[in-house]
Amino acid sequence: MNSRTTYCGLVTEEYIGKEVVLHGWVQNKRNLGNLIFVDMRDREGIVQLTFNDSTDKETFEKSNSLKNEYVIEARGIVRKRSKEAINPDMKTGMVEVFVEELTIINKSEPIPFEIKDNTTANEELRLQYRYLDLRRPELQKAIRTRAAITRSVHNYFDNHGFLDIETPNLTKSTPEGARDYLVPSRVYPGQFYALPQSPQLFKQLLMASGFDKYYQIARCFRDEDLRGDRQPEFTQIDVETTFLSDKEIQTEIEGLLTQVMKDVKDIDIPSPFPRIKWQDAMDMYGSDKPDIRFDMKIQDLTELMKNNEFPLIKADTDLVRAIVVKNAASKYSRKDIEFQQQYVERYGVKSLLWLKMVDGKLSGSIAKAVKPFEEKLIETLDIKEDDLVLMVVDKFSVVCDSLGYLRKYFAKDTGIIDENKFNFIWVVDWPLFEYDEGFGRWIAAHHPFTRPRDEDIPMLDTDPHSAHALSYDIVLNGYELGGGSLRIFDPEVQEKMFEVLGFTKKRAYEQFGFLLESMKYGFPPSGGIALGLDRFAMLLAGRDNIRDVISFPKNSHATEPMTNAPDEVSPEQLNELGIGVLYKEEK
Ligand code: AMO
Repeated sequence: MNSRTTYCGLVTEEYIGKEVVLHGWVQNKRNLGNLIFVDMRDREGIVQLTFNDSTDKETFEKSNSLKNEYVIEARGIVRKRSKEAINPDMKTGMVEVFVEELTIINKSEPIPFEIKDNTTANEELRLQYRYLDLRRPELQKAIRTRAAITRSVHNYFDNHGFLDIETPNLTKSTPEGARDYLVPSRVYPGQFYALPQSPQLFKQLLMASGFDKYYQIARCFRDEDLRGDRQPEFTQIDVETTFLSDKEIQTEIEGLLTQVMKDVKDIDIPSPFPRIKWQDAMDMYGSDKPDIRFDMKIQDLTELMKNNEFPLIKADTDLVRAIVVKNAASKYSRKDIEFQQQYVERYGVKSLLWLKMVDGKLSGSIAKAVKPFEEKLIETLDIKEDDLVLMVVDKFSVVCDSLGYLRKYFAKDTGIIDENKFNFIWVVDWPLFEYDEGFGRWIAAHHPFTRPRDEDIPMLDTDPHSAHALSYDIVLNGYELGGGSLRIFDPEVQEKMFEVLGFTKKRAYEQFGFLLESMKYGFPPSGGIALGLDRFAMLLAGRDNIRDVISFPKNSHATEPMTNAPDEVSPEQLNELGIGVLYKEEK
């Protein structure tokens, strides 16, 4: 093999007249009889190789034997293309390489799907041949965006006095609200390590050791239901500091995020970022991760509707709230609107109510019921011609979840979201606890190490579920990018927190004894945050699934079709670990 002189995708006009040696893959070949064009691809892009009557016979014949995805070396002279052959859409579209020497380094069988962007090939098949899928330029770009982010993160933290410190992966369970992945111990059969759901406790202990400013790009493992923005194995940009206030930590993170946006996207993001209280986010956007690229705020009609004895209000806890979709009445038929019923049902909505303003008249499912006070309603919601109103009557959580969903759905569907915008917002002043319908009990809204507001600490004894936390989330374009908090540093408060969460003192010590113990030995107040690197990369790469920015991701069933993990292991391995399998589940 000759030494490569440059990448295919970098052969531009400056190379005209020069000799280049290229290594890469055959993207495709066009045979026009006495003229053969080959598009040759590497990580930087594609360049056109040309073989014609002036090419020596042997090389010409070899070029004719090329097939897609052959690995080749081409040595040749770069020439300017004739005027009519110029391709302005290609970075290398001004030039072509007249090949003098062609080497077939390796052949390829016909591949299971074509290497091209916007592919329609089945995702499962693509995951099975992930190394081929990753040859597609759009995935190459996505993975490189991720690399650009991590480079920028390391630079930022290095320049700001943070130390990159690793923490263990074989460890004891750290509760972050998901199930643990367990690793059996061979040395102690019947005992298990847990893979970390986050480095939370270790980073707090590093603060107890006095490192002051820690960061780590850390792999985390959570066995939870998967969605487009969740993977069982994912990566956090994890941060912890001592002696800083929540605002100071947020300012540091704003510095990081604006730097990354500049380095990776060349976009200047103004700071400080806007802040919204959790309660306001829920009320106005129906979500604790509001997408503020568009307005369409939720409006409260409870009082107006109660005063007018709106018949659909049944319970005292019922709220009446609505969104107005501007200029949408003519776009959506009754059927289109009622089609949404099945989606809001998931959130517990019995009946999605709606109104349209057409030719100055209100029509729709509740037009009759609101007739007596329609003027007041039109004024309150500021309904204009061609507006569509969607309304829900139910308890707080149902109203928020359903209208939050509808707000996002109709914004997307009516095309009012500017996809080039990056809108960061802090969500602050969270409740300390939240009721988990699935578990049927109260859980920590962030995690059990989150410090309550100073003034709310006495509430741990009296009314813990009304206490608020010194926690904060950073939200980008409607995605929870990261979450953090100030931490409890007083062992008594920490013990109380465990108590409210239903831990007996004995169990709290069994599970978290090392933390409670450490709090006795000069434990500093600390605080930090973790940002989801995969989500950040997904958003900056303009993708809508985090799988696209993970080199070898799991599919939506938490399996990895290429290696077929998880897989059975040999009886010998199980024996060694002292493990017997009670039942098996087919994949
Ligand atoms: P939290 O649990 O909020 O906080 O996680 C922080 C961020 O990690 C990302 N994330 C995920 N990304 C992909 N797949 C998943 N399954 C997944 N789960 C979480 C999200 C989320 O905002 N120890 C605390 C942080 C702290 O308090 O400092 C923690 O882990 O982007």
